[in-house]
Amino acid sequence: MKRLHGKSAMITGAARGIGRAFAKAYVQEGATVALADIDAAGAEQAAAGIGSGAYAVPLDVTDAASIADAVAAVEERADGVDILVNNAAVFDLAPITKISRESFERLFSINVSGTLFMLQAVARSMIARGRGGKIINMASQAGRRGEALVAVYCATKAAVISLTQSAGLDLIKHGINVNAIAPGVVDGAHWDGVDALFARYENRPLGEKKRLVGEAVPLGRMATPEDLTGMAVFLASAESDYVVAQTFNVDGGNWMS
Ligand SMILES: NC(=O)c1ccc[n+]([C@@H]2O[C@H](COP(=O)([O-])OP(=O)(O)OC[C@H]3O[C@@H](n4cnc5c(N)ncnc54)[C@H](O)[C@@H]3O)[C@@H](O)[C@H]2O)c1
Repeated sequence: MKRLHGKSAMITGAARGIGRAFAKAYVQEGATVALADIDAAGAEQAAAGIGSGAYAVPLDVTDAASIADAVAAVEERADGVDILVNNAAVFDLAPITKISRESFERLFSINVSGTLFMLQAVARSMIARGRGGKIINMASQAGRRGEALVAVYCATKAAVISLTQSAGLDLIKHGINVNAIAPGVVDGAHWDGVDALFARYENRPLGEKKRLVGEAVPLGRMATPEDLTGMAVFLASAESDYVVAQTFNVDGGNWMS
């Protein structure tokens, strides 16, 4: 039997990158998956690429009405939500003296408020349905310690780790497991953007930062999104029923805790 047979999953920010890879892995394990993204066309394309079992839902995690509509759409289409992956997030870079209020508010609004209020909406739905569920938040090694130039993103991911602990402790009485994954450096469009920002702020050629962070991973390379899917499937499956409020490093050995 496939490990997510008959389950209904919802993954935010799944139009590309890690979220899209998780959607594909969940469908392969027997789930029906809503790819929920602000990039509606990208989510449609990603769902079509995965095939039957995947469908797109428009979602802006910063907008309460959009969250309510997206969760209602999944409830109606797939008879509820069994698995939520809070994956949507954005990145920015600036020295402390140059951080703008606009950048701070954007990152906290998507990465932290988006995670909390998606989690809240889906937890309410899971509690009303009475069958428990699995909620997986995407943290980061950036949430384990601060980093010069990355103050705001690091703070958002530290907040995600903390929210995972509090929500995990609060919701386990309803049979809802809340846990998180803390990736290290994962190749893709996200890191192309990070590399371009480092090129600007550290005066480096494009591609250099990416090469250096890959070489610094104890395992010897950046991750691919597929390197994370084993943990994502485990945390969504019954195999993790006794795992509560934890954040798992999947980072090639970058961080130990
Ligand atoms: N790539 C890495 O190296 C890395 C490392 C550690 C943690 N992470 C985390 O993993 C997750 C996925 O990363 P990725 O590399 O796939 O990122 P990505 O930038 O490739 O994908 C993010 C997705 O989120 C969507 N999104 C942005 N704002 C949104 C909003 N308001 N509402 C709904 N969707 C929105 C985007 O359209 C995009 O499809 C993020 O939480 C990220 O912080 C990534």
